[in-house]
Amino acid sequence: MLRTQVKSFIRCVSTNSTSSTFTPIVSHNGIADAVGNTPLIKLVKLSERLGRNIYGKAEFQNPGGSIKDRAALYLIKDAEDRGLLKAGGTVVESTAGNTGIGLAHICRSRGYDLVIYIPNTQAQSKIDTLRLLGAEVFPVPPKPFEDPENFNHKAKRHAESLENAVWANQFDNLANRQAHIETTGPEIWRQLEGKVDAFTCSTGTGGTFAGITRYLKEVSNGKVKSIVADPPGSCVYSYVTSGGKSLERSGGSFTEGIGQGRITGNLQQDIDTVDGAVSIPDGETINMLYTLLDEEGLYLGGTGALNVVAAAKIAKDLPENSNVVTILADSGHKYSDRIFSKKWLESKDLLKFIPEHLHKHIVYP
Ligand SMILES: Cc1ncc(COP(=O)(O)O)c(C=O)c1O
Repeated sequence: MLRTQVKSFIRCVSTNSTSSTFTPIVSHNGIADAVGNTPLIKLVKLSERLGRNIYGKAEFQNPGGSIKDRAALYLIKDAEDRGLLKAGGTVVESTAGNTGIGLAHICRSRGYDLVIYIPNTQAQSKIDTLRLLGAEVFPVPPKPFEDPENFNHKAKRHAESLENAVWANQFDNLANRQAHIETTGPEIWRQLEGKVDAFTCSTGTGGTFAGITRYLKEVSNGKVKSIVADPPGSCVYSYVTSGGKSLERSGGSFTEGIGQGRITGNLQQDIDTVDGAVSIPDGETINMLYTLLDEEGLYLGGTGALNVVAAAKIAKDLPENSNVVTILADSGHKYSDRIFSKKWLESKDLLKFIPEHLHKHIVYP
C-alpha cells in the first residue's frame, strides 16, 4: 500500500471565505509522497453565474505539474511489485508528455533510466523538459494505433529489446486507473464530504476518468452522475452516444494529452457505467481558458479549460446549488508560447473566440 493512501488526509477545500486552515504535508518518502492530495478549488465567479458550484481539482500542483504524476507513480510501483523492474532498470513509455514528465521525476528519484516515445506534434517545451530531466526522448510522427509504427508499439519493442526494462503501457495497464480509484476519487469525496452530484473530465488514456468514475459510483451507490468530455477528433463522444456502436471521429483540437481513436483498456473498464458524453469545441475551450485566467486567476492548460466548459454545461441541467467536480489537469506554462501568441491563435482560427477585453493576455506576437 502506498504511503499516500495511509497518511492522514489533508482537508483542503477552498470555500469562498477568506479564512483557511493550512496543514503542512511532510513527505518522508521523497517525491513519491508529494504526489496527490491536491486542493479542490471552487471556481467562484463561474459558480455564481451558474447558480451551481463548479469545483476543479488542482492537479497542476503535483510535483511534475500534472494529473499524470499519479499514474506515473502507480505504473512504476506496479512494475516493481510485479518484479518487472529492479534496481538500475529502465522504464520505457509512449506519452503525449505529462506522463513522461511524471515518470522522469519518479525515475530520477529511484535511479531508473527512462526512454520516451512522444508524438512530434507536441509542445517543444515538453520534449525539452523530458530531456533536461534525464530522459532519452524519441519524437515520432503520429500514426494510428493499428500501424506498427504507432508510438505505443515502438515503445513496447524498445522495452523488449533491453534487459531489466518495462514498458509502462499507460493506455492499457490498469495500474493507471487504480491510482485514481485509490487516491483522486477518495480525495474528491472527502473534500466535499460526500456532496458530489456530478463528475466530468476528458480522456487520454482514460485512467483519470475511469478511476474517479468507478470510485464515485461505488461510494455513492451510483448516485454521482459521471459524464465524459471529449475534444474534436476523438471517438469517445460518438462511442458513448451511439451505445458503443460507433468510433467515428472528425476534426482536431489544440488540446494536448486528450482525445482517442479507440477505447483504451483503462476506459473500457467503466465506460458502460457513464451517464453521458459532451463534445466540446475548441472555441469554447480557448474562451474558457482566457476567462478562467482573467476571472479566477487560474492559469490552465487546454484540457483543464475544456473540462470546466464540460462541467458548466452539465451543471446547467442539475438543480441549483449542485456540486460538479472536474479536473484542472495541468497549468498553461508548457503551452504559453502557443496559446498566448496572436500568430498561433490566428493560425488555428481561435482568435475570434477571445473577446476584446481578454486580448490583454495575448502577450506573444
Ligand atoms: C494535460 C492532460 N490532461 C488530461 C490528460 C488525460 O488524462 P488520462 O490519460 O488519465 O485520461 C492528459 C494525459 O496525458 C494530459 O496530459
